[in-house]
Amino acid sequence: MTANQAFQGRRILITGGLGFIGSTLAHRLVGLGSRVTLVDSLIPEYGGNLFNIVGIEDHVVVNISDVRDQHSMRYLVQGQDILFNLAGQTSHMDSMQDPYTDLEINSRAQLSILEACRRYNPTIKVIFGSTRQIYGKPDYLPVDEKHLLRPVDVNGINKMAGEWYHVLYNNVHGIRACALRLTNTYGPRMRVKDARQTFLGIWIKLVLEGKPFEVWDGEQLRDFTYVDDAVEALLLAGVHDEANGQVFNLGGERPFTLKESADLLVEANGGGEYEVKSFPADRKRIDIGDYYADYTHISSVLGWQPIVPLREGLARTLAFYRQHLKHYL
Ligand SMILES: NC(=O)c1ccc[n+]([C@@H]2O[C@H](COP(=O)([O-])OP(=O)(O)OC[C@H]3O[C@@H](n4cnc5c(N)ncnc54)[C@H](O)[C@@H]3O)[C@@H](O)[C@H]2O)c1
Repeated sequence: MTANQAFQGRRILITGGLGFIGSTLAHRLVGLGSRVTLVDSLIPEYGGNLFNIVGIEDHVVVNISDVRDQHSMRYLVQGQDILFNLAGQTSHMDSMQDPYTDLEINSRAQLSILEACRRYNPTIKVIFGSTRQIYGKPDYLPVDEKHLLRPVDVNGINKMAGEWYHVLYNNVHGIRACALRLTNTYGPRMRVKDARQTFLGIWIKLVLEGKPFEVWDGEQLRDFTYVDDAVEALLLAGVHDEANGQVFNLGGERPFTLKESADLLVEANGGGEYEVKSFPADRKRIDIGDYYADYTHISSVLGWQPIVPLREGLARTLAFYRQHLKHYL
């Protein structure tokens, strides 16, 4: 049985299912014949957007609720085969200005979701959307999973706790769970209104509007994962029990300087302008410097590797927003 066949008829719950990655995963799972339920709070500052499920709205169950609501989650996890746990507060700056909300969503709610699984559906399998942010400023590059975790912001600390609750519930309570540490993920359905999700979002919006965008520290290195590649990794982790109890980096084609990625975006758009600036002081304090991942571990255990090159991914993303930008403003 292929990984794809394994999803036929499976009952899947996606927290953050109206967000960028969750909804892209939902589109894929509907195509694979899964029975999909999406949970999302649609808090306006986050990436949830009902437009993200246009085309599959009649094939998924949508439950607008908050993962902080233990009663909802207790009900929602029941009868599900796999939980893709992707609800999160993603803004690093917001986590510094309002640390308690980040704590409640990225840490406490994760614990209560796992408790709901332990009590009401212990045979469920859980895949958690973690982040490279938990490494903090890298000691070496590329960063592998053995690298020390030393988060530089509140978001990183809470995501780290959220991730380790999953590993703990796997190891101690036998709730099969694993985590993918995502790096800059981009593609259709991402939030482009502002830079809350990633700087690429605001670049894309401004370049399409014919306005200049800002590149902070053009020499900084980053890696990028196209969303379809991230979805493939989630599916592989969902079907393979070798993933249980493990944490995996995702990565990209190769590291790019921010200036190189800005040039690729302008080229893919057929024009555009940007200005290289230094980081604003409040950002600089929580910036992690150069980062790119070593994703050998997921390649060897699950056979995953990124397929879509940055140039191609940016072209696809721009094509999507040329058509649909008004739904994302
Ligand atoms: N996109 C990236 O580059 C990236 C990088 C690293 C990690 N991640 C992680 O991947 C996951 C998905 O991210 P995304 O890029 O799709 O972001 P997103 O903001 O588009 O999706 C997150 C979704 O979670 C929902 N949500 C937030 N708080 C909620 C709550 N309390 N209850 C219910 N729903 C809630 C939001 O409404 C949103 O739809 C997140 O956990 C994020 O931390 C993403």
